[in-house]
Amino acid sequence: MAIGGYNQLSLISLNTQLGNEAYKFQSARAALYAYLSATKIKTLYVPNYICDSIFPALKSLAVEIKFYSINERLLPIDCPKLTKKSDSRILLVNYFGLLNKQIKKLTAVEPELFIVDNSQALFCEHIEGTTSIYSPRKFLGIPDGGFLRTAEKINMPETMYDASENVGHLLLRAAGDVQAGYARFLAAEQALECFIPKKISVISAHLIKCADINAIKEKRRRNYKILYNKFKSLNQLQLPINDHVPLCYPLKLGVNVASICRGLINSAIYLPRYWHSDYSGDVGISMFENTLFLPIDERLTEGNAHALSDIIEQRI
Ligand SMILES: Cc1ncc(COP(=O)(O)O)c(C=O)c1O
Repeated sequence: MAIGGYNQLSLISLNTQLGNEAYKFQSARAALYAYLSATKIKTLYVPNYICDSIFPALKSLAVEIKFYSINERLLPIDCPKLTKKSDSRILLVNYFGLLNKQIKKLTAVEPELFIVDNSQALFCEHIEGTTSIYSPRKFLGIPDGGFLRTAEKINMPETMYDASENVGHLLLRAAGDVQAGYARFLAAEQALECFIPKKISVISAHLIKCADINAIKEKRRRNYKILYNKFKSLNQLQLPINDHVPLCYPLKLGVNVASICRGLINSAIYLPRYWHSDYSGDVGISMFENTLFLPIDERLTEGNAHALSDIIEQRI
């Protein structure tokens, strides 16, 4: 322990343990890269509704991408049948952290063939026998992070990710300066486009220890239920909470939501759009065009969640 000298942020460690059994990198795509390069996987089956950010890593490893289609419930229409099991894998996405049970079922017979993409499902337990990846910064105020759970032996890189230039957005947002923080958030995300694996930063590793995971889980679940109860008769996507800790509340409507999202910015409500991609199939396109992804994170009080649901009701 160092004594004296310059001052520090007063962050209280709760000694939170997360991803203890995982290999820890700077991003989920770096975690995926590390797994695919260690195992020399040649073909990856990917759903035709996914975030494009993983593709550069796959291309650089010359992994062949084969798309499979998903249905309206966000599950494979036909789970791909692998002809060469030794060097092919199927990526299943746990969309919005709301498909735990369905994914468990799909992976039950031959778990070793699957990579479960839990980037949107930080609190979904790893399924023994599968490989899974996580992206903790989507749930926690940390600048970087990507976990890999696998039975394969992975050699960790020596280099640690340096996040010291990429924490400004978290501080600005905490201080209430959302506008100034946004440009820095984009720059921090851009820095993660380099997928060559590095160890998670010392800053993120420490911030994870300070995160009140139980409160985060509980508030996400409470806020989800508020929005679920409000919109259950309207939502074309019926994804009940069960034991999930979701990323957001996806509200799928029968109309294009682009203008609703633009209008909400005037009320300082910022919604992400998941995902615009040239590779999306019909379901992916309709998810992108017609779905509002409403925030449910721990920053929203119960009152905020009700107020959000009222504003959304007025706008749709
Ligand atoms: C389903 C999915 N997989 C993978 C990723 C990549 O995660 P990361 O940004 O941590 O590399 C994302 C990011 O948005 C994602 O949504």
